[in-house]
Amino acid sequence: MEIQLSSFASSSFLLIILGLVGCLFEPTTGRHGRVHGGIATYWGQNIREGRLTTACATGKFQIVNIGFLSTFGDGQPPQVNLTRHCNPICNGCWNVSAGIVNCQNDGVKVMLSIGGPHGNYSLSSAAEALDLADYIWNNFLYGHSTSPRPFGYAPVDGVDFRIERGEFSPYYTLLARRLHDYGRQWGRKVYLTAAPRCHFPDNYLTQSLHTGLFDYVWVRFFDDQKCQYNSGNPSGFQSSWMRWIHSIPARKFYLGIPASEEAGEGYVAPSVLMRKVLPFVKRSASYGGVMLFDLSNDVQTNYSSLISGRV
Ligand SMILES: *[C@@H]1O[C@H](CO)[C@@H](O)[C@H](O)[C@H]1NC(C)=O
Ligand SMILES: *[C@@H]1O[C@H](CO)[C@@H](O)[C@H](O)[C@H]1NC(C)=O
Ligand SMILES: *[C@@H]1O[C@H](CO)[C@@H](O)[C@H](O)[C@H]1NC(C)=O
Ligand SMILES: *[C@@H]1O[C@H](CO)[C@@H](O)[C@H](O)[C@H]1NC(C)=O
Repeated sequence: MEIQLSSFASSSFLLIILGLVGCLFEPTTGRHGRVHGGIATYWGQNIREGRLTTACATGKFQIVNIGFLSTFGDGQPPQVNLTRHCNPICNGCWNVSAGIVNCQNDGVKVMLSIGGPHGNYSLSSAAEALDLADYIWNNFLYGHSTSPRPFGYAPVDGVDFRIERGEFSPYYTLLARRLHDYGRQWGRKVYLTAAPRCHFPDNYLTQSLHTGLFDYVWVRFFDDQKCQYNSGNPSGFQSSWMRWIHSIPARKFYLGIPASEEAGEGYVAPSVLMRKVLPFVKRSASYGGVMLFDLSNDVQTNYSSLISGRV
């Protein structure tokens, strides 16, 4: 009896030690091996979503992408477009800094998203890519600009590549490398993230993603019948997810979905997401969470509240 007790005591001691070691080395793996993810979203494309500060203060988001820097290349001066939130001409978006700082103080990472579905952007030479890297470093990251910085003084945490228009360009890879190198040179972590479409490979982004420099990849599982989630036949979705996580060397992958039926084809009801989709993607060690596109849709449907804590 005594022997049994003491072996029970020492094995539970061992379990506790193992549990502690587990906590130290795998902060995202919870009890019973369940992976906990976060929610990422996009802010900037619709005034109804409200202020950045308010979104971050809800505590629901881990990362917010500010979209978009949607004009660059082809001789055009780079320009952000935050629709009716503010007008970057005449320095009208300077106080986005307040939102960035408030978010960061709430533990939310803030990214500048370049590209987007509507802009006029391209990179047609190495020189253009290097110029854009300089512009981004000096105007949104840790550098200094002689002209006013569009979002004011506060640096964002990194740059999100949402490239989905124009000709294929090999120079986005150079842009990513240059931003990464600037960070190393100045002792700063510059997060790099990307939003490829789900059909593998994404023509615009796969080459850049193969560099292994990207931290988070939110694959857009929408607006594509072949790989968006289809409850009748989830195999296209499942094989696409597996293909992405096994082909691309990135730290974490997020399931990108529309936050409302209007936000894109391939909307998945929150109950279906939790019952059918999350159990599948959470089996992957590199699962990072869910990306909801976008915040203006989320505030209508309350999607993030419905899945919060279950991601
Ligand atoms: C900014 O983006 C919106 C939405 O994509 C577009 O309707 C608008 O024309 C753009 N504004 C400018 C100045 O390019
Ligand atoms: C920035 O200023 C505009 C206009 O003055 C205001 O509507 C907006 O709420 C401000 N945003 C922040 C984050 O302070
Ligand atoms: C994009 O910008 C280029 C260069 O300014 C211009 O020639 C072209 O017409 C623009 N395209 C669109 C769709 O606005
Ligand atoms: C969204 O969900 C939160 C938390 O459950 C709730 O407090 C809020 O009233 C809901 N908002 C809407 C618009 O349904």
